[in-house]
Amino acid sequence: MTPMTEFARNQWYVAAFADEVGRDLLARTLLGEPVVLYRTEADGRVVALADRCVHRRFPLSASSLDGDRVVCGYHGFTYDTTGTCVAVPGQARVPRTARVAAYPAVEQDTLVWVWIGDPERADPLAIPRAPHLADPGMTTVRGMEPIDCDYGLLVDNLMDLSHETYLHGGYIGTPEVAETPITTEVDEAAAVVRVSRHMPDAECPPFYARSTGIAGRITRRQDIEYHAPCLYLLHSAITPVHQEQPVFRTEITYAITPAAPGKVYDFWAVSRDFAVDDAEVTDFLRDFNHQVVMQDVDALNLLQRALDDEPPGYQELSINIDAGGLAARRVLAALAAEPHRAPDPADAAPAAHDGASPAQGVHATGNAG
Ligand code: FES
Ligand SMILES: [Fe+2]
Repeated sequence: MTPMTEFARNQWYVAAFADEVGRDLLARTLLGEPVVLYRTEADGRVVALADRCVHRRFPLSASSLDGDRVVCGYHGFTYDTTGTCVAVPGQARVPRTARVAAYPAVEQDTLVWVWIGDPERADPLAIPRAPHLADPGMTTVRGMEPIDCDYGLLVDNLMDLSHETYLHGGYIGTPEVAETPITTEVDEAAAVVRVSRHMPDAECPPFYARSTGIAGRITRRQDIEYHAPCLYLLHSAITPVHQEQPVFRTEITYAITPAAPGKVYDFWAVSRDFAVDDAEVTDFLRDFNHQVVMQDVDALNLLQRALDDEPPGYQELSINIDAGGLAARRVLAALAAEPHRAPDPADAAPAAHDGASPAQGVHATGNAG
């Protein structure tokens, strides 16, 4: 059995889409910790508490809210938004140790970010941004699928889009994706890995043909920006071949949140800046991308079971297409081993490049636009 990817605890993780959190108690497991989420009546703030009553460990997510307090559904221990127990049944005195952990939670860009690690180190300014999700000029479809696999397998999957040609052929993959070499760039200090693939003359896959109406070949750009450990942005731009305009821009977002060893939440979103009011395009992209996500989910569930059955010590064989995935593994290992260091402005040297990348290169543009 292959070793699991270590968790980086002192990091922000997406626990939910903002509109999933309301006055019903929502259960999620983050880095092996059961968490209950809800929104306060008082100011609409998101609260994230440990999802186990301190008394007999009943899940608070299976309990109920009394105003902004959670009343345990088993014997009534009552918790405020800081996780402090403020009432117990049958006695006036509440034991001093009666409290559950309250995790820092921040709502940003329609996502709810939760910090499971050392609360002293939770800096909301370190949360990576995905502003397109809240951009009124774009239309977003989205969903979440849990996968029974090491979260590292999902990172691997997303960092190497050559799999689109094979696993997602007839959906988003065409021969050019697998044929076109990538460039890889790593910013170790910021824990960001960028992988780009620019296809000047490519077949238009059904995903884009049916959403943009383009009939012929396209110029297709894929610029990945992975903010380890959780946020993955794929900036996609499509133009009819040999044309500068129009540019159809799609932002594909994934949040990769380890739930527990061997379990990951796959949050996905597709935002577009074209046909924004076209409900048919919206329905098509939601269904179609869900099918694409399920192809990955099925493949990764299968892959994990295959790896589980393996004797230890198998050496993988990596090639050029794996440069981004290998860089991501190194960044994740560094984050798991030590606290995340914010980029230091005094450190003006250019970002270190991925030395192992045979297709090494740098592109100056952050976004495909
Ligand atoms: S388990 Fe929660 S009050 Fe007893
Ligand atoms: Fe995929």
